[in-house]
Amino acid sequence: MNNSTVAMKVPFHRADLGEEEVRAITDVVRSGWLTMGAKTIEFERQFADYVGAKYAVAVSSCTAALHLSLEATGIRAGDEVLVPTTTFTATAEVVAYFGARPVLIDVDANTLNIDIEHVKHKIGPRTRAIIPVHFGGQPCDLQEIREIADHHHVHVIEDAAHALPSEYQGRRIGTISELTAFSFYATKTLSTGEGGMITTDNEAYARRMQMMRLHGISRDAWKRYSSDGSWHYEVIEAGYKYNFTDLQAALGLVQLAKCDAMHTARCRIASRYTRAFASNSSLEVPEILPDRTTAWHLYVLRLRLEQLRIDRDGLIRKLAEAGICASVHFIPLHLHPFYQNTYGYKPGDLPIAEEQYRRCLSLPIFPGMTDEEADYVIATVSEVTHRFSY
Ligand SMILES: Cc1ncc(COP(=O)(O)O)c(C=O)c1O
Repeated sequence: MNNSTVAMKVPFHRADLGEEEVRAITDVVRSGWLTMGAKTIEFERQFADYVGAKYAVAVSSCTAALHLSLEATGIRAGDEVLVPTTTFTATAEVVAYFGARPVLIDVDANTLNIDIEHVKHKIGPRTRAIIPVHFGGQPCDLQEIREIADHHHVHVIEDAAHALPSEYQGRRIGTISELTAFSFYATKTLSTGEGGMITTDNEAYARRMQMMRLHGISRDAWKRYSSDGSWHYEVIEAGYKYNFTDLQAALGLVQLAKCDAMHTARCRIASRYTRAFASNSSLEVPEILPDRTTAWHLYVLRLRLEQLRIDRDGLIRKLAEAGICASVHFIPLHLHPFYQNTYGYKPGDLPIAEEQYRRCLSLPIFPGMTDEEADYVIATVSEVTHRFSY
């Protein structure tokens, strides 16, 4: 490596935002209507079309999307919901909102998705729902999950925060289970800064979530200050303030139009990484199963620690010294104080997730990443792993 390459900085993520987004936001500002309105409804319509679902309900985050999904299915205190331990806390915290219990499930060592055998072992009379998380974008074993869920009469709510666009057995994620929750958080594959969406084919769920996202007020509450709406409304339930805004929708519509192009760009980087790392015996590259495709929200490398004199944290430090920001997805939930103190989890309870956690790191991957940036990441990871190999 020469000095000019060492000076390169590669962030973990750089948002793919351009003049089109600026123009779209400006138009909304000029229109004088900033919160939820016609743009949000248009974004919902186009998102539903893109995914292939009947309904799409836009909300303030994927966390809100998961919360409203559970609420729509009628979850109550004392119920149990199966959640993989390898996920962000949002997936499980929404269960706790109801006084229900998140039952943490170990993951498959290959895909890091929820482990089917462990689901079978933990499903019981109190189980009301399963929330599979499509880790990094690779879909879970949805066929097997469906069969178990049907057998036990439990709901399936997909956490698709990473999975736009991903496909499972030729079907796009967002069309398969009763309810699917997406995230438009800053680093996600489609970003509106913050935001989320639920897709469903179930009209009753869609109506319920449309009401509950805006204070539990009767239909079309968002129109109450507009000329084609009415000042009159009724409060039907104690709802939430989870609505989307037209400012976000303006970004979302532009981002949705380039979603396929952004996905192609991510696929190109992932292939470049895999071509380079597959022959490095101290590294394990992600494997995508033949009946599914991934959005490549994350590119997760695993270290073969027995072949290295450096651990995962050490490698991340070396990358940081070289100007490259890597990350880790995820610290298993059962290792966090909240899940230990509240539900009695302890280290060792979910050993596969723990073992994979020690070995994994997420490399930068984003649509605007240049070949030079990707090659610099490849060169740096290769150099450090070779230098620290036994
Ligand atoms: C798997 C998973 N689920 C849910 C969320 C929550 O998404 P949001 O920030 O849109 O609420 C995240 C966020 O990173 C996530 O990674």
